[in-house]
Amino acid sequence: MTFSFLTPLLFCFIALSSSSASLGVESFIGYPIIPISSLISKNLYDTIFLHKDDTACPAKNFYPYQSFIEASKYFPQFGTTGCLATRKREIAAFLAQISHETTGGWATAPDGPFSWGLCFKEEISPQSNYCDSTDKDWPCFEGKTYKGRGPIQLSWNYNYGPAGKALGFDGLRNPEIVSNNSVIAFKTALWFWMTERKPIPSCHNVMVGKYLATKADIAANRTAGFGLVTNIVNGGLECGIPNDARVNDRIGFFQRYTKLFNVDTGPNLDCGYQKSFQ
Ligand SMILES: *[C@@H]1O[C@H](CO)[C@@H](O)[C@H](O)[C@H]1NC(C)=O
Ligand SMILES: *[C@@H]1O[C@H](CO)[C@@H](O)[C@H](O)[C@H]1NC(C)=O
Repeated sequence: MTFSFLTPLLFCFIALSSSSASLGVESFIGYPIIPISSLISKNLYDTIFLHKDDTACPAKNFYPYQSFIEASKYFPQFGTTGCLATRKREIAAFLAQISHETTGGWATAPDGPFSWGLCFKEEISPQSNYCDSTDKDWPCFEGKTYKGRGPIQLSWNYNYGPAGKALGFDGLRNPEIVSNNSVIAFKTALWFWMTERKPIPSCHNVMVGKYLATKADIAANRTAGFGLVTNIVNGGLECGIPNDARVNDRIGFFQRYTKLFNVDTGPNLDCGYQKSFQ
């Protein structure tokens, strides 16, 4: 590990928020840029996604470590912002969310339900082609389906279009590429994670402490934490429901992964008492 001499400087200083002047200085001295591959080794990745290459998983061999690392280079702020604990927690939160989206786990699964992330690369029995024909900016192509694909299960024409535009592929004409090319697949998940959709914050900003709650957010209990990220990902269907099984599944992945990263989960894991953004 080439960066070990810098590691002590990555401790989280609580005094950081006291003034913006000290923030600037300390973030220069204290928060060096290190590649995320030094926070998540191939070994750790393969332990996290213990069963992704099982024959039982339709995504067998589709999500190798190297594709994740390569895609992350396209988003240099991901997993490199803030102190060491913040960085690890953000990566754990991202991996937990994509795990729920692609899980092949069940309650009594070998090694537990939270060892089965990245088991699927596309939705198996979509109820529609996920075309919102009222969206004139991102018109659907005939015969194309904008069903869930890739780690975040990107869906709908109005997401495929902008994701493709940002990442350099034609999301509307060629949505299949998200389940054919694993680097592009990871890039769509990271694009979703990093992109703010006003007034909805980005998952990234929430996990690195850059989310500023408005009055409306505070009234809706939308305070920073893993639960708020769940709210961004699928709050319209899952949040505001105490003890929702889907939300609990996301939390279960996050708890297992933060343990493997040796970092705490932070507060507000649940969104059971949050109003959704939409
Ligand atoms: C992508 O996969 C689909 C089926 O999953 C296949 O029909 C298509 O030819 C593939 N496209 C590319 C560019 O590999
Ligand atoms: C906010 O959370 C509290 C419980 O902590 C709950 O009683 C209240 O109804 C929640 N508010 C909204 C808007 O959901």
